Amino acid sequence: MSSDGVNSGRRKFLTAATSVVGVAGAVGIAVPFLGSWNPSARAKAAGAPVKADVSKLEPGQMVVVEWRGKPVYVVNRTEAQLEELPKLNSLLKDPDSLISEQPPYITGIDRSLLPNLLVVVGLCTHLGCAPKYRPEVGAADLGGADWQGGFFCPCHGSKFDMSGRVYSGVPASTNLVVPPYTFEGDEVLVIGVDAEAA
Ligand code: FES
Repeated sequence: MSSDGVNSGRRKFLTAATSVVGVAGAVGIAVPFLGSWNPSARAKAAGAPVKADVSKLEPGQMVVVEWRGKPVYVVNRTEAQLEELPKLNSLLKDPDSLISEQPPYITGIDRSLLPNLLVVVGLCTHLGCAPKYRPEVGAADLGGADWQGGFFCPCHGSKFDMSGRVYSGVPASTNLVVPPYTFEGDEVLVIGVDAEAA
């Protein structure tokens, strides 16, 4: 599974993928899909787990991985982004994710297995549009000083923080969904397999 040839191929692919993300990671630009190297398209359509090497993600960067035909947003959050999370609770509908969809092993306001790595389904919980990644703190069109980075849905204006938690006063009612996931080693994210069952 880890022959030199395979590793070399993965590395080349990931270098290319993260380069593109670096360019696109600026303001509100669509982030490209990070194709997973397995399984086959037919198996993916049937619901098989997908894997992605997330070790090259720079702090603040996001990639999109397709799982069961859905975009899954994977963000390597910065220390500064994580520090802002508790300060936002009073502005959110479900700050502790009591009514939002996520696996039972996902707890806390970071909503993740690894504190820095956010993994959420990139579909708005209002009517299913794809929210934009908007990490710029203080973005004037998103509330200025109150905006600490997150996701903005262009369809009807729902806003989510860097944990995918939905703000009050927007159409969406619940936080972005956290899919089942686990890790293989330190580098490979596996989406579609529960951590507890791994
Ligand atoms: S679909 Fe996102 S706000 Fe309506």
